[in-house]
Order: sequence, then structure tokens, then C-alpha cells
Amino acid sequence: MITLKSRYEVEKIRFSCGIVAEVLNHLGEVVAPGATTLDLEKIAEELIRKKKVKPAFKGYHGYPCCLCTSINEEVVHGIPSSKRVLKSGDIVGVDVGVIHDGYYGDAAKTFAVGVVSPEVQMLLTVTEESLYKGIEQAVDGNRLSDISHAIQRHAEAAGYSAVRDFVGHGIGRMLHEEPQVPNYGPPGKGPKLKSGMVLALEPMINQGRYEVEVLEDGWTAVTADRKLSAHFEHTIVVTEDGPVILSRLDDRQGQGTLQKDL
Ligand code: MF3
Ligand code: CO
Repeated sequence: MITLKSRYEVEKIRFSCGIVAEVLNHLGEVVAPGATTLDLEKIAEELIRKKKVKPAFKGYHGYPCCLCTSINEEVVHGIPSSKRVLKSGDIVGVDVGVIHDGYYGDAAKTFAVGVVSPEVQMLLTVTEESLYKGIEQAVDGNRLSDISHAIQRHAEAAGYSAVRDFVGHGIGRMLHEEPQVPNYGPPGKGPKLKSGMVLALEPMINQGRYEVEVLEDGWTAVTADRKLSAHFEHTIVVTEDGPVILSRLDDRQGQGTLQKDL
């Protein structure tokens, strides 16, 4: 069942998403050659604790950390480690979720480390654009797969492929709620989108083929051809006035209106 969230619930999710956005913004300033992915984890964990919220991923099906940090050919769910040292030219996907007062927020960004080649920068740009193409379709009355199709189309037009084995998801009282949101597919299929639906859209876009494998650690997904992969994620809400991004700092102007609206 897809639950529609009340204004009150959306404000709760917006709060969690705001902290997620702050963590990602801060990590964007910390990502640099020489930093390890465990350094990023420690900084994120401290910030999350300071904000008095809880990390969403740590302990989720036994996942050991607050962040997923996925370097280069790693698609998603890379585990932070002191052995993974970032170097100039790498890309690193950072995914973070928190829960506060029963409601989750989830977002991810892929950062360039130091100086990356124009080809690599293009992958990041197109992946973020494909997320925004998906968000544009998150409109009351559209069908779910209109989002999927827009993402796939944009990625493939640039010569990339959209990962099939991992999907976006509904979010709210649980990290993963219905519906699953694939990043590929024909338009016009699936449930109708309605105001109050909250979705985490998260295209994972590969430079080469879309197939992925999971490494022996049971978590890290890598591209089967070991070419690069990028990942961007936002939590959004479908409203009567169109999609609203909850996990972006400059989109939080609604905060504080909660009391008034009730
Ligand atoms: N954003 C990812 C997702 O929604 C992160 C989950 S990591 C996990 O699947 F460790 F919590 F599984
Ligand atoms: Co997610």
C-alpha cells in the first residue's frame, strides 16, 4: 500500500531531510584527496549525533555505518573504511539517511575528488540531471513509471545506462516503503501519483553497461564491467503545486509553517 502523508508528516520528513542535506553539504567540503571514507563516516556520525537524530542505515539489515561511500565503479552501498583513501580523479557517492521522531529522510550525492576528467564530470552532471528529470515527472495524475522513463531516457541519450537491480522507494515511517521506483521502463505504467506521496528518487547511472554485481562483503555493488557509476538521490513530496524537494537546504522555506497550518 502506498501511504499518503499528511502535512504534519511531510514536515516531520522535511526535518529529517534537512539534516541529511546539511550532512551532505558538509561532506562536500571535506571530500578531498587523502581523506578516507572512514573520515567521512566519522564526520557524518558526529554531525548526526550533534543534531540529536539517529542514523537510518546503521543496523539496517546489519549494515555497519551511517553512510554508504561508493568509489568509482562502486554503484551503491560501499562501506566506509580507513583503507579507502580518496585520490584526485576519483568520484565518491555518499548516501545518508536519518530518522527523527519516527520519520526518515534519505539523500545521496556523488562528489568529484580533486580534479576529474571532463568525461567523468559529464557522468556526474548527467546523473544529477536525470534525477531532476525524474523529479519533474512527480506530478499528481502522472503514473509512477513516468518518473522511471524520464530518468532512463536522459541517461541513455548521453550514452549511459540506468541500473536495474536497485530502485528508488517510498519513504516515511519506514526507510523503504511502497512503491519501488525503478530508474528505467516505459512511461504511463504503475500507480497514479497523488499529492501526499513521498518518494526517494535515486538514479544510479553507469558509464558502461547496466549490470551490477555485489562483492563478497555482501553489500558493495559494483558495475559488472568495472566502469564508473554515479548516484544522486532526493526525497521529494508530490503536491498540488508540483513536486517539492525535501532534502535540499534552499527548499526548506516551508519549515516553521507547521504550527500555523495546523
Ligand atoms: N539510499 C539507500 C537506499 O535507499 C541506502 C540504503 S543503505 C542501507 O537503499 F544500508 F541502509 F541499506
Ligand atoms: Co534511498
